[in-house]
Amino acid sequence: MNTSDPVVPARRGALQWGAGALAAVLLAPLARAQRLADAHAVEVWKDASCGCCNDWIAHMTQHGFEVTAHDTGNNAVRARLGLAAKYGSCHTALVGGYVVEGHVHADDVRRLLRERPQALGLTVPGMPIGSPGMDGPAYGGKRDRYDTLLVLRDGSSRVFRRHA
Ligand code: CU
Ligand code: CU
Repeated sequence: MNTSDPVVPARRGALQWGAGALAAVLLAPLARAQRLADAHAVEVWKDASCGCCNDWIAHMTQHGFEVTAHDTGNNAVRARLGLAAKYGSCHTALVGGYVVEGHVHADDVRRLLRERPQALGLTVPGMPIGSPGMDGPAYGGKRDRYDTLLVLRDGSSRVFRRHA
């Protein structure tokens, strides 16, 4: 994703479009600082044909994450990262040194990065309907209850957040 300085195009815009663009120039440093604070690199492994994976990536991108995807499948990577198959889902990601498995909400990832617990990472096992990337029009507004789990290094887990 492009992270280049937004000030230059915004400044060009000020000349072309007047006051609105000028305001954008004045606010650009603030917006940029906010974006840098939010910008966490996400690396994700998935199957090339996984549509809901792409929808999760779009969710993360919309929440300010910078996502790099590898279409290699995710089972081998998950095993290599030490996450048990019972916690598995359709994609495996690495964010800030944590494993993030499946359709985890961006807010949960942000909280993880803020609190930085001693843990392997987060997972939403399976693919519950209504989780981010499993919530498109095809699902007709249906929502499963599901939990985001915090997986500890000993392989145990506890509920990190309940999604009703
Ligand atoms: Cu999925
Ligand atoms: Cu996926």
